[in-house]
Amino acid sequence: MDTLETLKKRRSIRKFKSTQIKDEELKAVLEAGTYAPTAMGLQSPLIVAVQNPEDVMRLNELSLEVMNRGRGNPRGGLPYYGAPTIIIIFATKRVPDPLLGILDASAVTTNMLNAAYAVGLGSIWINRSKEIFEMDEGKALLKKWGILEEVVGVASIGLGYADMDNPTPIKRREDYYKIIK
Ligand SMILES: Cc1cc2nc3c(=O)[nH]c(=O)nc-3n(C[C@H](O)[C@H](O)[C@H](O)COP(=O)(O)O)c2cc1C
Repeated sequence: MDTLETLKKRRSIRKFKSTQIKDEELKAVLEAGTYAPTAMGLQSPLIVAVQNPEDVMRLNELSLEVMNRGRGNPRGGLPYYGAPTIIIIFATKRVPDPLLGILDASAVTTNMLNAAYAVGLGSIWINRSKEIFEMDEGKALLKKWGILEEVVGVASIGLGYADMDNPTPIKRREDYYKIIK
């Protein structure tokens, strides 16, 4: 798909089919993430794709727990909307400045969202990774996954086959950008 078309047409998907995606689709998305720009070219983030249904459900539960500390769950249902794959993007200590770690992880996340759309998958950026992996239950998942280095949850992605039409984007703000000549 044409890059500009992908960037403009990618939308957040909030209903997924339960069918798991193909390995080659997942790898295409992950690989696109690894080609994102990173500060000093350090490739600092850690990307973890979770497909084990038990851990996917655990992440939904933990996300819900964090939601319930605040505004609750206004949309109802599962926080990852039934996505069979969840990708978590962590900042690591590979980059010395924590802000750069977050920026790197965000760049990786955006690349993967756009790549997902380009290969025909639905995706959505889901918040609350920081809080989840600060919890003992989140730390237990990291241990189970063999992640022993110090990481900070920055973002996560619900990924799968969309079970809804691609939404129409809302109108872009008139003053979104300025050209100074
Ligand atoms: C930092 C960030 C956090 C987000 N967290 C959530 C979330 O927890 N749940 C959700 O349903 N959407 C979440 N979104 C998706 C936004 O709501 C969505 O991108 C926005 O409404 C624009 O829609 P679009 O992605 O279809 O263009 C998040 C997006 C970003 C960038």
